Amino acid sequence: MNHSLTQLPSYQALASHFEEIKLHSMREMFAQDESRFSKFSVQLNGLLFDYSKNRINVATIDKLVALFDECDVPIWRDKMFSGEKINSTEDRAVQHTALRNLGDKNSALTKKQLAVLLLIEAFVEKVDRSNITDVVNIGIGGSHLGPMLVCDALREISKPNLNVHFVANVDAEEINRVLSKINPVNTLFIVTSKSFTTQETLTNAKTARNWLLKSENLKSENHFVAVTADVEKARKFGIAEDNIFPMWDEIGGRYSLWSAVGLSIALSLGVDAFKRLLSGAHAMDEHFINAPTDKNIPVLMALLDIWNQHFLAAATHAILPYDVRLAYFPAYLQQLVMESNGKSVDREGNALNVPSSPVVFGDVGTNAQHSFFQLLHQGTHNVSCDFIGVAKAAHDNQEQHDMLLANMIGQTQALMKGQTLQEVGDVDYAEHKVFLGNRISNTIFLNELNPYSLGMLVAMYEHKTFVQGVLLNINSFDQMGVELGKRLANDLLENIKDQSPGADLDSSTNGMIDFYKQNK
Ligand code: F6P
Repeated sequence: MNHSLTQLPSYQALASHFEEIKLHSMREMFAQDESRFSKFSVQLNGLLFDYSKNRINVATIDKLVALFDECDVPIWRDKMFSGEKINSTEDRAVQHTALRNLGDKNSALTKKQLAVLLLIEAFVEKVDRSNITDVVNIGIGGSHLGPMLVCDALREISKPNLNVHFVANVDAEEINRVLSKINPVNTLFIVTSKSFTTQETLTNAKTARNWLLKSENLKSENHFVAVTADVEKARKFGIAEDNIFPMWDEIGGRYSLWSAVGLSIALSLGVDAFKRLLSGAHAMDEHFINAPTDKNIPVLMALLDIWNQHFLAAATHAILPYDVRLAYFPAYLQQLVMESNGKSVDREGNALNVPSSPVVFGDVGTNAQHSFFQLLHQGTHNVSCDFIGVAKAAHDNQEQHDMLLANMIGQTQALMKGQTLQEVGDVDYAEHKVFLGNRISNTIFLNELNPYSLGMLVAMYEHKTFVQGVLLNINSFDQMGVELGKRLANDLLENIKDQSPGADLDSSTNGMIDFYKQNK
């Protein structure tokens, strides 16, 4: 059941296959095979996944499929969907998929979700009838990035008389900027925290409450609700019992936008849109369970990621949405991928001898073309890219939309083809104008961006991340790496507030504390 990746015959077969593949360029491969696009692309419900601009041939995919089987991914997938406790270090099941399988009569978690959806529905109606004009979601990480992504991406269909704001950072500048724009009388705060212990969220919630209570006659219970797995803590904080929306241990923070963590989404876009988001994600779940391995989009994405990272040394992965509506998607995926798979020991605690998560970064096209694309085209790093485009524009300026997507497609072509010295010709600085090409990209093209397609897109990356974790034999569902920094920051806080000289710490830490105290 558990494996060491490099010992597997299928992994070793990939290593020797790479020796052959590395002799061929993608330019050659496209020239020799006109059917490359149809061989290496999959479509699902209006979503196109084109992976033909990877350094692969049919044999590569066969060998990656063998790796998938040898790593027992189907067994782990069944375990996840059947609610086994695959998050071993936290002794928890991983059940975000049950939140969107609303027709499942057997899942206890789905039943709880249906009950919470009714609460959400009633609450949304109540807010719609009230004088609330501004909703502020206070939460960080998984309690922030998913709802912010969805609300921003789909703002075209949001209610015109309701503004949604997000406050995450402990930097008071962020909450001050929001508070300066809103009126306490018309504001609803959602304190979103699975654990209800997160420093940033509780501090911002207190700041918001103090601000609200400065207005006479306002009662915090009329303006604060909470979303949490620890109802008792929210109650102790002073949130009225009826205003607490539960979520559950089996829902990881970065997988939680489908739960009541999505309350801001339901308020902004309506409950129907929220349910369509869930059904899009469920459609991707079904695809992930049922599609054959070589036509299974999240599975292919994960297998290609291993191929690119382990054999082509692409330790960095760029997320490049060519649609401003998806501007928050790179940030969302940074948490999803790197908090899930940025690990250095396997499930048994053995040190990994292969790279785990790639470094994920990104920005919207075309802006990114004018900042870091230089490195993608001519730098010495090998970066794998996911381009994401939407065929239908949200506006009627077709001319600019054509330009946008011509840029996206053109970039994938340039990365793949490059430009030889011969093509550059006899010009000054000719060597500087050479592009080696052979640079890897996937393209994910949606027919349109709506709640359903966005649900599919997010769930697709969730399952990619899951498969990647299984292949690496790591637990993708804990995040112990965030704890040490939090603890040390808390220890230092006392020292920083104190006027006495720094304690006996390392010289750099002491030096910074002294600098801060002298200058604050
Ligand atoms: O610090 C990491 C983390 O635990 C994330 O995994 C989580 O999404 C975020 O903090 C917020 O946690 P909570 O929802 O419990 O406030």
